[in-house]
Amino acid sequence: MSLSSMSWDEFHAMSPDEKGAHLLEDTLSHVLIAQQFRRDFLERLGSLATQIRLTSKTPAGSRFLLELLSHKRAMLFFSQPSTRTFLSFSAACQILGMRIGEVRNPSTSSEFKGESKDDSIRAFSSYFDMIIMRTEIGGLAERMAWVLSHSERPVPIINAGSGKDQHPTQALLDIYTLQRSFEERGGIDGKTVTFVGDLARGRTVRSLSMLLAQYEGVKQVFVAPDELQVGEDILGLLEKKNVEFRTTNDFESSIPDADAIYMTRIQDEWDAEKGASAKIDISQFSFLEKHLELLGKNSVLMHPLPRRTEIAPEVDRDPRAVYWRQMRNGMWIRAALIAEIFGVAERINDYHGENLD
Ligand code: NCD
Repeated sequence: MSLSSMSWDEFHAMSPDEKGAHLLEDTLSHVLIAQQFRRDFLERLGSLATQIRLTSKTPAGSRFLLELLSHKRAMLFFSQPSTRTFLSFSAACQILGMRIGEVRNPSTSSEFKGESKDDSIRAFSSYFDMIIMRTEIGGLAERMAWVLSHSERPVPIINAGSGKDQHPTQALLDIYTLQRSFEERGGIDGKTVTFVGDLARGRTVRSLSMLLAQYEGVKQVFVAPDELQVGEDILGLLEKKNVEFRTTNDFESSIPDADAIYMTRIQDEWDAEKGASAKIDISQFSFLEKHLELLGKNSVLMHPLPRRTEIAPEVDRDPRAVYWRQMRNGMWIRAALIAEIFGVAERINDYHGENLD
């Protein structure tokens, strides 16, 4: 059953896995939650991102890419602060020749005049062929996708971060970074991925953890002060999927076993009471220069960015610090995702095969 034949109550009541399965049934349209991606798709998307990256290096290649979606327009609707996600989506659209419009401050939109969110999204869909949205409201992207699927202009919605809940395209770029990092080491299977920091409210961790659960023998380690440990809902899902995991608050001793360490910042914008996070002792959850010698020689250090003090700037020089590359990967994987949504992946494959292989 596709989204358009379901009532909101039916869709809303589903578990993330059930929603994922329904979203999969449609040809890729809305991108809402990590659970809608299967491993074969992640691999295909990674190769497509690499093809786009290589194709864009030549003037002829970049002209070819620019033609692909020059007839499409994307709307970036970001009501929450963003730098890299916003810019990487704009850059991804530009690589494929799309034109973009944006609303970043809801007080400049008609929501301010009392328009409902359902009506606002229908208004946006009148002018654009795709809506990329970031919002502080968990689950809103799902609602917007459902509304559009029941309208006469069912344009795709991409969730670019929803509340504390999901950030599926960040998880895609994280997986792409892991694929590239472990290319010569048998890929992601069998690796240990260690998450550190604010795992209770970090939506990137929640989405990536779900994608990693699809790989064989990947062990997940969650390192956080007790107050910021990952949610029981995630641990319950991992248990159900027979994924090996452990939680700890001992950061230093978890470094040597990690193939990838994924640092995150304290998400204090979610504090119920202002300043509550500042009372949590996070001094033991930063990656400092001295930790480099504990880190495996083929391991990688990641971070969705922006960072505060959780990675010391001196660490940047080490080749195992991949977070700047990780950020750039976001642009390529988002371009690949958009190419898939608009059905031009095949043409990129063909061009790459004929000109670059
Ligand atoms: C993350 C986010 O917005 O959830 N940022 C990003 O998209 N790269 C992580 C964060 O803000 O800490």
